[in-house]
Amino acid sequence: MGKKRSAPGLLAQKGQSRVVCLTAYDVMSAQIADLAEVDLVLVGDSLGNVILGQQTTVQVTLTEVEHHVRAVRNGLHNALLIADLPFGSYQSSVAQAVDSAVTLMKAGAEGVKLEGDYPEAVSALVKAGIPTMGHVGFTPQSVNGFGGFKVQGRDNGDEVLAMAKRLSDAGAFGVVLELIPAELSKRITVAIDAITIGIGAGIECDGEIQVWHDVLGLSAHKFKHATSFVDGRELFTHALKNYSEAVRNRSFPSEENSF
Ligand code: KIV
Repeated sequence: MGKKRSAPGLLAQKGQSRVVCLTAYDVMSAQIADLAEVDLVLVGDSLGNVILGQQTTVQVTLTEVEHHVRAVRNGLHNALLIADLPFGSYQSSVAQAVDSAVTLMKAGAEGVKLEGDYPEAVSALVKAGIPTMGHVGFTPQSVNGFGGFKVQGRDNGDEVLAMAKRLSDAGAFGVVLELIPAELSKRITVAIDAITIGIGAGIECDGEIQVWHDVLGLSAHKFKHATSFVDGRELFTHALKNYSEAVRNRSFPSEENSF
């Protein structure tokens, strides 16, 4: 039985030990993430891409995230379970942000993450007892505003840094830094109290987050910000070919599988 992670516990790791974060969307993945001693599991709105096959995360709904949080909750015991507030579930008002977060907490989340410059929402969520993470740099819900999937903060990076600081000062325990230069991540990590969690943001962050399908080599597409630690696509294809062959040549089911 491993150790149960909490938001204050992960915050206390700043400057001590790196925080390992991974997305997951279902019960078995959650169980495996716990077995692998991941610190934080995010039910990301990346589910729009890797589960539903959508081009962006813009279409993902609160109900869809809630559905996957329920599944992950059933498999996760040790890692901290954070859920993404999807596009359209927090931008209208602080009240909307709190209501949406409450929906995800009732489904089993232990905190939420939101993208962009919403420090007022962060303080209201923290006031309501909801551990909250920010997300700056390339924020996928704003892909249409950015005009594509582009590295951010290539100028002096001051705007990205200021936003991360506003979120941290508002009470966010963590801030995801996505697709920004490594040097800027280093400045942000030093400047803010929250833990910085990088994805395409270099080695100087307090921790790292990756998408389940990328780490396990399941995606057909390879991204510069990701490395697959196993060729899952090849492994699964091979296993399923063996299964197909066994069914066709009548070696499965065997006596052992029969009643
Ligand atoms: O939705 C997601 O998976 C994310 C992470 C990759 C940071 O936001």
